[in-house]
Amino acid sequence: MTTATATSPAGPHTLPRHMTFEVEDWNILARCWHPVALERELGDQPLGVTLLDAPLVVYRSDSDIVIADDLCPHRGVPLSMGSGNGQSIACAYHGFRFGDHGRCVKVPAHPDNAIPSKLNLKTYPAVVRYGLIWTCLRPESDDITIPPMPHWDDPDFQQINCPWIDIAGFAGRQVEGFIDVAHFAFVHTDTFADPDNPVVPPYKTRLTPDGFEAEYRSSVGNYPIGSSERGRAGFEWLRHFRVHVPFIATLEIHFPDDGRLVIMNAASPVSARKTRMFAPMCRNFDKELPLQDVYDFNLEVFEEDRALVEAQKPENLPLDPTLEAHVTADRSSIAYRRALRTMGLSQFFTV
Ligand code: FES
Ligand SMILES: [Fe+2]
Repeated sequence: MTTATATSPAGPHTLPRHMTFEVEDWNILARCWHPVALERELGDQPLGVTLLDAPLVVYRSDSDIVIADDLCPHRGVPLSMGSGNGQSIACAYHGFRFGDHGRCVKVPAHPDNAIPSKLNLKTYPAVVRYGLIWTCLRPESDDITIPPMPHWDDPDFQQINCPWIDIAGFAGRQVEGFIDVAHFAFVHTDTFADPDNPVVPPYKTRLTPDGFEAEYRSSVGNYPIGSSERGRAGFEWLRHFRVHVPFIATLEIHFPDDGRLVIMNAASPVSARKTRMFAPMCRNFDKELPLQDVYDFNLEVFEEDRALVEAQKPENLPLDPTLEAHVTADRSSIAYRRALRTMGLSQFFTV
């Protein structure tokens, strides 16, 4: 077990207190970009979020989004308890104010004194993509490595961002569930799948620079159960999965008549035991239908998965292939675990 304690609130190499990851795993995951919030949930007030056990505050400073440690450098109060005005935020305890780039811009007790730079916040890069705010805790370069999402920028497509879903389970288990094609007939029969159609036709996985992809063709439809639209008899549904390690996967579903639905499963590792699942989507059909229907259907599907992901043991994802039993339908799971091993991650036993 490794418990890391911050020794200095603004030090560049400190680790979160009460870590639930092995330090080596944390250091690898902290080099990756992860989503932490929906852009639309960030107003003028500071927003507290957690990524990889690190509490962060997200706030607006004019047109910029600032992401910083959620810790006032004065007396350690979370800045997410404070208030904001769209340009800066004020700490709830003594009103110190922080603006662009995390700079301390006001100390109300001494308005005329110079402000020591030690009061500036430790910040992280912030990028908005697919309607999500992304960050990286330990960037190694200026590169922004956020996986592509097919058709998001295509004007023929409608862009949708479902509310996030919190899961009391590990991101790796959740992602593996998303790419698992053998569970539809058992878990998703109230939403889209058919209990009488459990057979998994053969499919292959193909390595990509940051993961793999799989094209899976089957007769399992993707219309909501009860929908009058049931597609064409004999239509072969193509589900094109693209997995980007560690925790992002997109699924492009080919509907009849060139319809396309793309779902990005962006699992944000709040800790080794908690995941905030973001799901940007885009589609080129049904664009005039109410968004709430998409939100509701998505929630129903992911809720069906949630109960299982939260119950899995061990809570981590065993990366040693000998630790769980596999069948041919699990090609994607095996490829996923291999890709995580290739990143250098350990067995993911939570601490
Ligand atoms: S603790 Fe934040 S201003 Fe004093
Ligand atoms: Fe599922």
